[in-house]
Amino acid sequence: MDDIANIVILTGAGISAESGLATFRGPDGLWEGHHVEDVCTPEALARNPALVHRFYDERRAKLHEVEPNPAHQALAALDAQWPGELLIVTQNVDDLHERAGARRLIHMHGELRSALCAACGRAAPWPDPLPPSTKCTGCGQPSLRPDIVFFGEMPYEMEAIDHALRRADLFVSIGTSGAVYPAAGFVQTARHAGARTLELNLEPSAGSFYFEESRIGPASQLVPALVRDLLS
Ligand code: APR
Repeated sequence: MDDIANIVILTGAGISAESGLATFRGPDGLWEGHHVEDVCTPEALARNPALVHRFYDERRAKLHEVEPNPAHQALAALDAQWPGELLIVTQNVDDLHERAGARRLIHMHGELRSALCAACGRAAPWPDPLPPSTKCTGCGQPSLRPDIVFFGEMPYEMEAIDHALRRADLFVSIGTSGAVYPAAGFVQTARHAGARTLELNLEPSAGSFYFEESRIGPASQLVPALVRDLLS
């Protein structure tokens, strides 16, 4: 991997699975126990805000019980030591990448630890626990919602992500099923721009055939091995 300067890494729920956070799809997945349209759409929030808040309150509470695993730690070490451009784009709304120390990080689907004001668009740290009457510190409206990108909403920072993908020499996808766009299409953008493409996942994902190479196994083993390789 001598000729690599710019790296983009996409992560999904699989990288946090070994920390004890549920993935979305498959047995015991979050979408087995909940209907997406009940908890993860703007319509659900309007129809039944209590249910939506409860779903995210439970997931936010869980963050106190989990720690970053060797995969998050390895990526944080890569971020600290990689001399070229590097961007970690996560679909995860947990905070395990930043708790491991990653800095060059985009939360494209939002963050559990952030509150978004539906009235003025201001994002601020989530007041934990959130009293029912908490008002936005910007506009004063009682309109705080989880700062989560719901289905049907636009993921964050797409311009910066697209820019990085088009400059990438290496694109790595870790622990994602490849079921949700636009993230599932990043491999194609990077590949068209000339990047090498590598998937690390417990099983072949829906888009495995787009990748030049797939390594199958747990992220806690595959990611540290890749990072050792890149930094050697
Ligand atoms: N190591 C590596 N991969 C793993 C591990 C592990 N220890 N455990 C599970 N996986 C893999 C699974 O095999 C699966 O392919 O991680 C993937 C997780 O897929 P999903 O549950 O679909 O999660 P993700 O791809 O992040 O979902 C994308 O869907 O509903 C939305 O907004 C939500 O950001 C999420 C998006």
